[in-house]
Amino acid sequence: MSDDSVSDTRWQARFVGPSFANGTEPDDPACYLRGEFTVAEVPRRATLYATAIGVYEPYLNGARVGDEVLAPTWTSYRHRLRVSRHDVTDLVEQGRNALGGIVAQGWALGLTGFPGKRNRYADRPALFLQLELEYADRIEVVGTGPEFRAGTGAIRAAGIYEGEYYDARREPEGWSRVGFADETWPAVEVRDWPLDTLFTDDAPPIRRVEELAPVSITRSPSSPAATIVDFGQNLAGWVRLRVSGEAGSTVALRHAEHLTPEGELDTRTLRGAAATDSYTLAGTGDEQWEPRFTYHGFRYVEIDGYPGEITEQSATAVVVHSDMTRTGWFETSHELLNRLHANTVWSMRGNFVGIPTDCPQRGERLGWTGDINAFGPTAAFLYDVRPVLASWLRDVAAEHGEKGYVPWMVPDVASYPAPPTALWSDVVVSLPWTLYRQYGEVEVLREHFPLMRAYLRDVESLLGEDDLWSGGFQFGDWLDPDAPDDNPAGGKTDAHLVACAYLHKTAREAALIADVLGEAADAKWFTELADRVRAGFRREYVTPSGRVLGETATGYALAIRFDLLAADQRARAGEQLAALVAKARYRISTGFAGTPVILDALTDAGHLDEAYRLLLHTESPSFLYPVTQGATTVWERWDAVLPDGTLHSSASSLNHYALGAITDWLHRVIGGLSPAEPGYRRMSIAPQPGGGLTHATVEHDTVQGRVSVSWRVIGGRMTFDVTLPPGTEAEVFLPLHPEGKTLEVAAGTHHWEYAVESAHSGPNHDPFDAPMRELASDPDTWQAVLDVLGRYLPGLAGMGGSMLEGSDAPLSRILQAIPGGASPELVAQLAVTLGAAR
Ligand code: BGC
Repeated sequence: MSDDSVSDTRWQARFVGPSFANGTEPDDPACYLRGEFTVAEVPRRATLYATAIGVYEPYLNGARVGDEVLAPTWTSYRHRLRVSRHDVTDLVEQGRNALGGIVAQGWALGLTGFPGKRNRYADRPALFLQLELEYADRIEVVGTGPEFRAGTGAIRAAGIYEGEYYDARREPEGWSRVGFADETWPAVEVRDWPLDTLFTDDAPPIRRVEELAPVSITRSPSSPAATIVDFGQNLAGWVRLRVSGEAGSTVALRHAEHLTPEGELDTRTLRGAAATDSYTLAGTGDEQWEPRFTYHGFRYVEIDGYPGEITEQSATAVVVHSDMTRTGWFETSHELLNRLHANTVWSMRGNFVGIPTDCPQRGERLGWTGDINAFGPTAAFLYDVRPVLASWLRDVAAEHGEKGYVPWMVPDVASYPAPPTALWSDVVVSLPWTLYRQYGEVEVLREHFPLMRAYLRDVESLLGEDDLWSGGFQFGDWLDPDAPDDNPAGGKTDAHLVACAYLHKTAREAALIADVLGEAADAKWFTELADRVRAGFRREYVTPSGRVLGETATGYALAIRFDLLAADQRARAGEQLAALVAKARYRISTGFAGTPVILDALTDAGHLDEAYRLLLHTESPSFLYPVTQGATTVWERWDAVLPDGTLHSSASSLNHYALGAITDWLHRVIGGLSPAEPGYRRMSIAPQPGGGLTHATVEHDTVQGRVSVSWRVIGGRMTFDVTLPPGTEAEVFLPLHPEGKTLEVAAGTHHWEYAVESAHSGPNHDPFDAPMRELASDPDTWQAVLDVLGRYLPGLAGMGGSMLEGSDAPLSRILQAIPGGASPELVAQLAVTLGAAR
């Protein structure tokens, strides 16, 4: 997986760019660069090495080379510029050949960052093509050099945030073929770019990976000339347009994630990104066009200026991201949960566009360290993320090497130095550890160990005499739903409590890493650091009985999950956490720091039921609330869209994977699969059914092969199936087994069936069997139940919901207790209200 960095002498081509002013203005056109060369004899093999300052498409003899888009993907270009390798043996011809490329601004020249700035890496675009022709006795090299010429063409402007404008009348026909009359194109200028930044690796390129047809086509209510196409899925990519009409007419495509309740495009979540593409027709009949040098995060596109009627054939959504291999699947009997899982997968797809980003739609799309740190375990389960994250971690190390600190975002486009910050900066320890646990490859630990040491040395120097990390800025429990809109870091939980808790976790991981690497002195250092921080944490934040200062769910969840408490404090803390979660009526009260661990903390502390209730709650803000609102991706905050269909005033992103971090719990606890040894040679298989789920299946392509775990409870019987790939073994805890049976199991297919206790014998989905207090935890449902009871039994409802509200008795028992029995109408009404079968 290492960079194939090649010695400087390997590269004989030169970076070339236009001699005319180009690359500093948003409406500068893309550059077309071309040159010709002669081949005396057809080579045995021909390989093209290509990269650019900007984003480019390479061409050879009129053919577009390869299927990568948005290359070179964004890396810390000043340190590392990716070169793609293409086999072009079939394209090289005897005699004259034409080689070239189109280069647009991309990340190197165009607007990036937050706040946006242009020309972060260069002022002019440049192309680098090196073609190696292999013969039996020699290798000949041709490539970009001073004899190339540069012009412009149909791509009149293109920016990652802004969108692309293409005027089909201006395409220089045949520009990439031999014999094109390029005399009017000025000669290029050779550009200096340090060749030691060039590398090749096996990271999957960004590709077009899927296409989606419209699910609905409607007129814009306020502007009947414009049509809104809904693709039914929030995604990263662009729209392919099919159109015929008069030359010179222009079609504009505006993208958005959301519609107002009135059905208008709501672009507020895009913030600084114009995300508008335009196409001017050549007038040649059936024209098809899609942008290639921008991308958008969107579900809807508004099409304006389209000649004729827009049909399903007029617009196709093209899904674009790093073409990674899918490795994880999960499915249960609970449809909303399945959609939550699918939403996580889609948010991952939308945010692995070259680098792991926070969001794909707004004028940001940055490699925020905290987001991937939180989401890493889920990401590594769902897809093989090794090459993408190996590359990104190298960028982190390179930026750190230059600046001496871990930037909050990588590639770093901040205009300020980043102080160490829990969950964000400690990605340098936790992400390699996550990758090691997942894939069992020690190299990623060894490679980044110096960075881990440097980071922990920095943080250690910031600790007070009380061994606490209590000064400096922290993101804290970022986006705690109760934090003020204008201060997402200002949530309920003390930001330095969060910092100390994460530091303890990070130092412990670093100690484990040092052990793996045989670095005994460092292992001792990190262990001592963790112990000091834990002791300081207990002194400062925990009462002797186990209450955690601030009484917040995040505070308790971190203290429990990161093992900060003494054994006799743990149970009390667990009870407090469960009580806080219930007090919040199973709505989410945690942000970026607490959310990824809260389900585990509840589970670890023996409160599995509360974990399920938190997971399955649907009132805003909750994990499933977005699903009930038709979300197709994970939102930046759980209440990003309000129940009335309008956006939260923060206009948060609707495609942010960070909070999707809870998906890891679905895989490990509902599905039951986790590695007992790094790389899954030995596994733990221990599903913990609950929440009324009647089945769950998890499948995972580990580095050892495919594992599948599936459980199903029907009529009081458990059916449990496990398949392990060759060379592996597992410790299996039979779910809900009356004797709590544990088995050692070897590779192969295993099947068990047994009776389970009646409490678990079937789905708990029937709301008539749910305790009244459970129905009461959802105010809307509860009000509806009280309304119905009030209509049929004024006396009972008049006694006040409050008596019933706290009751453990199920609704069915309350109904049985009615003198004379509940009328069929009452039962029917309640069934309708609760969506239950009767
Ligand atoms: C991003 C987050 C990120 C945060 C940190 C936001 O703008 O979208 O996901 O981690 O900033 O400040």
